[in-house]
Amino acid sequence: MIAPVNLSIMGALPANEFHSALPAELVDFGPEIGLVLGSGLGSIVERVDMEAELPYASVAGLPQPGVPGHAGRFVFGRLGDRRVVVAEGRSHLYEGHDAVRVAAGIRCLHALGVRKVVLTNAAGTANADFAPGNWMLINDQLNLTATSPLIGGGNFIDMSKIYCRRWLKRFREAAAGLGMTLHEGVYAGLLGPQYETPAEVRMVRVLGGDAIGMSTVLEAIQACALGMEVAGLSCLTNWASGMRPRELDHGEVMQVGAGAADSLLQLLERAL
Ligand code: HPA
Repeated sequence: MIAPVNLSIMGALPANEFHSALPAELVDFGPEIGLVLGSGLGSIVERVDMEAELPYASVAGLPQPGVPGHAGRFVFGRLGDRRVVVAEGRSHLYEGHDAVRVAAGIRCLHALGVRKVVLTNAAGTANADFAPGNWMLINDQLNLTATSPLIGGGNFIDMSKIYCRRWLKRFREAAAGLGMTLHEGVYAGLLGPQYETPAEVRMVRVLGGDAIGMSTVLEAIQACALGMEVAGLSCLTNWASGMRPRELDHGEVMQVGAGAADSLLQLLERAL
């Protein structure tokens, strides 16, 4: 049961932040599940039976992603027998947006009627037992960005079950059914845009983080605050800094992400 939402808790934002900008037929489409795609995972969209698209640029207030590997549109369609809306591309703090703007896509999904959201990302693995090329189910997070999308409103929202327990169970079962390795752990979200130093990766380990990235944590906070059910999946694209002698590069992150998109699809089709 999802609690009714009072959008006035969103600080200075008007209650109808996006409603007037959204085509009625897309709201009427009634997407059940929102899927936010991380770097290199754009190929998932090709497997969606697409019915409509909505470029972010056509919605006032939605920032346009400026990073290679991030398009900027919502794709409406069907994945299996579920009505989904895929957010192809997201914005990041490191592009210069504030936290409220970074989470605008989530508020827009909510305005479209979405109440369940799957956040995906590419991440470095800081856990020696979680090899790159695998997926990690996010069961909790460390917001190390020193900001929040809820700034501007005095709302003290419970985050103790930020990642929906029911979905965690469902994804575990789906992975087991597929015989697929699905690690589970804590995602640490940092500001970026530079990759971490080895000392920062050791810090994240000490704090309890398993995977490191530059997205997701603010979106998860926003979604949780709106009463949405949140699932999170990290594509472990590389060993985090200092865990191996090699240097990190974005091209490698994109490549591993593209290779892992197929297993994500299988997992989603089974879990959803
Ligand atoms: N660190 C931060 N963000 C990332 C990484 C990483 O190692 N890999 C993919 N995104």
